[in-house]
Amino acid sequence: MVRKEVCGTDDVPAGGMRRFEVDGKAVLMLERGGRFFALENRCSHMNGDLSKGKQKGFVVKCPRHGAEYDIRTGEVIKNVGWPLLKKAKGQGTFSVSVQDGRLFIEI
Ligand code: FES
Repeated sequence: MVRKEVCGTDDVPAGGMRRFEVDGKAVLMLERGGRFFALENRCSHMNGDLSKGKQKGFVVKCPRHGAEYDIRTGEVIKNVGWPLLKKAKGQGTFSVSVQDGRLFIEI
């Protein structure tokens, strides 16, 4: 694991989310009540761009087929509904730290 700088705390909207590239990997940074979370941005189902999805509380919804993930754990809250599609597996998460107004992840 290597600690990598992602952005400033002000670069992630309060209560919102924003996508960043870190070492060629798409990372979704989210803010909730002063806490920050980081997930792999590509959906574990079929690579949907979670940064273009909807969010409510601690849940983010993929814009492609609607899988929902807990942003704190990456766990699937609601899987895709179509029986013939493979299922979402859950999102990788990254440990986030804050130092001097900057956000870092362990990657
Ligand atoms: S790609 Fe995300 S739910 Fe299908």
